[in-house]
Amino acid sequence: SSPSFVKVVEVGPRDGLQNERVVPTAVKVALIDRLADAGLSVVEATSFVSPKWVPQMGDAPEVMARIRRRPGVSYPVLTPNLKGLEAAIAAGADEVAIFGAASESFSRRNINCSIAESIMRFAAVAERATAAGLRVRGYVSCIAGCPYEGRVDPAAVADVAKALLDLGCYEISLGDTIGVGRPREIRAVVDAVSRKVPVERLAMHCHDTYGQALANIHASLDCGIRTVDSSVAGLGGCPYAKGATGNVATEDVVYMLDGCGFDTGVDLHRLAETGQWISAELGRPTGSRVARALLAK
Ligand code: HMG
Ligand code: MG
Repeated sequence: SSPSFVKVVEVGPRDGLQNERVVPTAVKVALIDRLADAGLSVVEATSFVSPKWVPQMGDAPEVMARIRRRPGVSYPVLTPNLKGLEAAIAAGADEVAIFGAASESFSRRNINCSIAESIMRFAAVAERATAAGLRVRGYVSCIAGCPYEGRVDPAAVADVAKALLDLGCYEISLGDTIGVGRPREIRAVVDAVSRKVPVERLAMHCHDTYGQALANIHASLDCGIRTVDSSVAGLGGCPYAKGATGNVATEDVVYMLDGCGFDTGVDLHRLAETGQWISAELGRPTGSRVARALLAK
């Protein structure tokens, strides 16, 4: 890819819909297909997690069976443990994501184990996934703050990111799970992490709770990051982070990137229509400022 390309990782069907009211499988499938058709090269599709913890993702195998896999598009799924991984493999997943945290309390609330235990679990998942020919992505949550512990040390983020890299993750996504970070803090985190993980391997994953997401993404681009996670229509939140809003809206990210001279391969108009459609399905207005403006014209 050219130096001016930014890869946008669409996480709405997973990070978005995991925290919305349950929608029918057919709607999820249509959403994923429409996002791929809009030019997104990565569409995170679902999670193979416990349905007792996240009932919204309880139809993961059906979703994977019914999506139309567009050539050149990858459809990663979350797998917290070997049980989830085996189910993902059986469902034909080509890529999985393991998800750790930089804060002990969040790790405990989200995946019911300590950070150290999670790395041991993920080692088994990554080893088996790699052996089965799947690519593995890693997440670090709470990079700029934790809903239970407050401030998070950038060094702790760097340690977890490095541990995930060492397990074989091709990319590490840095998650400001509760959207508290500001550009100066995000720069400090990216600086700390990129001393241990090459910046080419990093992705920025911002939630927009405090309205800082675009500014933070812009700061991360200045630091050399070229992969950005976002959620169509700004869907979602986080079930284990009270008050968290959705991820930054993909429409808003694509609009900003276009104006900064980056190529994303995404058709903004098709994307905005998709965001409008899924918002109507959920019975709420789109969370994308850009989509509202474009579609009002
Ligand atoms: P646990 O209760 O400790 O697991 O949960 P367990 O191994 O003791 O098993 C308990 C029960 O769950 C058993 O069933 C297992 O079979 C079942 P029972 O015998 O009681 O009937 N189970 C499973 N079922 C389906 N799929 C599985 C699975 N594993 C166990 N994979 C566990 C531990 C990790 C499973 C649980 O805590 C869990 O599912 N957590 C997922 C939480 C989640 O999805 N959070 C949201 C994603 S993270 C996020 O959004 C942040 C991110 O976006 C980045 C950012 O914003 O920062 C990525
Ligand atoms: Mg998230």
